[in-house]
Amino acid sequence: MKPTTPPRTFRVKSFGCQMNVYDGERMAEMLAQKGITPAADGEDADLVVLNTCHIREKAAEKIYSDIGRLTKGKTQKKAPMIAVAGCVAQAEGEEIMARAPAVSMVVGPQAYHRLPEMLDRAVAGERSTDTDMPAIAKFAALPERRKIGPAAFLTVQEGCDKFCTYCVVPYTRGAEISRPYSDLVAEARKLVEAGAKEITLLGQNVSAWSGENDKGHAVGLAGLIRDLAKVDGLARIRYTTSHPADMDDALIAAHGEVDKLMPFLHLPVQAGSDRVLRAMNRSHTVESYLRLLERFRAARPDLALSGDFIVGFPGETDAEFEETLSLVGEVAYAQAFSFKYSPRPGTPAATMDDQVAREVMDVRLQRLQAALNRDQHAFNEASVGRTCEVLVERKGKHPGQWLGKSPWLQSVWFEGDVAIGDLVEVDLLEAGPNSLRASVREGALSLA
Ligand code: SAH
Ligand code: SF4
Ligand code: F3S
Repeated sequence: MKPTTPPRTFRVKSFGCQMNVYDGERMAEMLAQKGITPAADGEDADLVVLNTCHIREKAAEKIYSDIGRLTKGKTQKKAPMIAVAGCVAQAEGEEIMARAPAVSMVVGPQAYHRLPEMLDRAVAGERSTDTDMPAIAKFAALPERRKIGPAAFLTVQEGCDKFCTYCVVPYTRGAEISRPYSDLVAEARKLVEAGAKEITLLGQNVSAWSGENDKGHAVGLAGLIRDLAKVDGLARIRYTTSHPADMDDALIAAHGEVDKLMPFLHLPVQAGSDRVLRAMNRSHTVESYLRLLERFRAARPDLALSGDFIVGFPGETDAEFEETLSLVGEVAYAQAFSFKYSPRPGTPAATMDDQVAREVMDVRLQRLQAALNRDQHAFNEASVGRTCEVLVERKGKHPGQWLGKSPWLQSVWFEGDVAIGDLVEVDLLEAGPNSLRASVREGALSLA
């Protein structure tokens, strides 16, 4: 590669989970610290960071077409300097370097604190790859949090030791590690100072977080949540994603006792058949999952539930798929994500017998999504008439319209004299499949 002038503007495009979005924000902060400014909407950026996701085939494939579009001038007039970050970078770093000469940097999700040095090398004309996994070192090397929206992410735990047979995360993110308690409390305070009213604690297995509090006591996620709830100015706490195996009594109790902990639980189940769950190496059964939900609902009766589902796992029969539908019927999720099984190279399930035909998966996914949409709509309908607080996150499509989230993570829109970051008391008036219309209660503006 030829040496170039240092980029003046950048754009980070994040394609993956919330942790991937968090990483994208942190990379943006580092680039800003280096004096590079974010490119305005619709304007060319001198440096584009593609922050990729490897979870499903489509997510990974997209990156080569994105690189092609960037270099051929289809996305912007001038081809930018390109960095590939995220989980595809981790899994296929060498291949990307070989296949896409336009890429000057490949950086994995545990190594992106080194992006500024890699950028200096790229300016000097040298391509570089860094997919080391030094785990915790990254966080210490990142700049302080500064300006942030009202709803912020905070990575507390990374990696996964569960090795579900379909999943790449244990390979792209490495082993489970927990960030130290004091770092998290400090970062949460910074986020609140920078404008956050709500913090979502993130981890591939967030409920596996453990640490030692300021008194030297071992604490789990519930202990961390209770202490973060004491941070002045922080109004709401959420966490995601949990694995049924790591949910303990303390966390269940916290849902009943900590006001700032929002009544929402994302607890993926993946399938409704015990045989499939075993083949997936999930350590729960349908029954144990349902009992767990019962305990959460007992602690917090208005808890909204969310889940993830995979249809067409190798060997899944029609009857086993029906079991997934009946589980859905029993739980009545407030929202959920569902996916067609996608064989990921290097995972045990990719080479299992009886891969399910695409057409079969299509039909199953359609049926599952119809059931999930029905339940989501019903949940929203059942919320009509409730009064709740909404955290105003952004302007709506029309002038005077605002969008925010209810405690149950529903999108709520309304009109009124409010500002981004306000917590507003509203009446929920009307339910659509994906959002609710509300009206602001007179004199109800609370500034948390
Ligand atoms: N750590 C979380 C999230 C993992 S990724 C958890 O354990 O739930 C998010 C979701 O992607 C998973 O819950 C699963 O439903 C889906 N997923 C993961 N690997 C997949 C694959 N190979 N094919 C289809 N969906 C997949
Ligand atoms: Fe993947 Fe399973 Fe770990 Fe979730 S728990 S990240 S699905 S291996
Ligand atoms: Fe994707 Fe990596 Fe997240 S594979 S889902 S970006 S952990």
